[in-house]
Amino acid sequence: MKKVTEIKSMQAEMARHKQQGQSIGFVPTMGYLHEGHLTLVRNARKENDIVVLSIFVNPLQFGPTEDFAEYPRDFERDRALAESEMVDYLFYPSVQEMYPNKPAVTVSVQDRTDVLCGKSRPGHFDGVATVITKLFHIVMPDKAYFGKKDAQQVAVLEGLVSDFNFPVELVAIDIVREQDGLAKSSRNVNLLPQERQQAPILYKSLLAASQAIEKGERNPASLVQLIEGMLKSHSNVAIDYVTILSYPQLKPLEELTGKVIIALAVKFSKVRLIDNLILDLDQEEPLCIAQ
Ligand code: PAF
Repeated sequence: MKKVTEIKSMQAEMARHKQQGQSIGFVPTMGYLHEGHLTLVRNARKENDIVVLSIFVNPLQFGPTEDFAEYPRDFERDRALAESEMVDYLFYPSVQEMYPNKPAVTVSVQDRTDVLCGKSRPGHFDGVATVITKLFHIVMPDKAYFGKKDAQQVAVLEGLVSDFNFPVELVAIDIVREQDGLAKSSRNVNLLPQERQQAPILYKSLLAASQAIEKGERNPASLVQLIEGMLKSHSNVAIDYVTILSYPQLKPLEELTGKVIIALAVKFSKVRLIDNLILDLDQEEPLCIAQ
């Protein structure tokens, strides 16, 4: 595995592989790798000649009061994990390398950002779309892999790829969970022990909603109430949102129909966690397609 820190060297390496007709699979991350990331890498390994993993904690996607400084980092551990998954290139640029100056041009996302995380994190998806635009120009991947835990990110990036005609196929991979149902996240490490015990209620409340849907419930407000009730009675979290929308359009629904996302975000003392279920109600049996 080759570690590359400079943009120019990365572009030269990638151009060489492209000239040789090799396909490039790309897994962009902010590091502190967990099983969710490794699942993305394994899919990339299966489907491409060359696998690139990037580690870059992107300051542009953190708000002024968010956890950029506290975001967990452990490069040596990440490097060992990437090596064991047979990653070919580990792209690890510094902030100075990626943003030598305050960017003169950034990407501004116009749709799908006024709901879910976009509502409480203004500018977050502009930061994600800007760094992904840069990374796609640097890595020039054929396929890029993202986790469905960040379902809104996937929806926004699908818009980016389509509107800017990137010759990249986005591959969205199912959420990887701990045995107790908690979605794997780099941020889980910052949960206090008591909060870690409470955290599985996020997924349990989503499952309770999907069971209610299976029994015929179609009213979004009732389902939101059910989830919020469970979260409040089994944990001390502050609820950021519990929302049900069409997917991937992310539009509000009066009554559940078609493909929908049930999404939530909650704040523990030091960590904000998200989770979701995507269901297709057009299937005879409501089919949980995202988990
Ligand atoms: O999902 C993430 O880790 C980040 O948002 C991403 C896609 C690597 C962009 O910084």
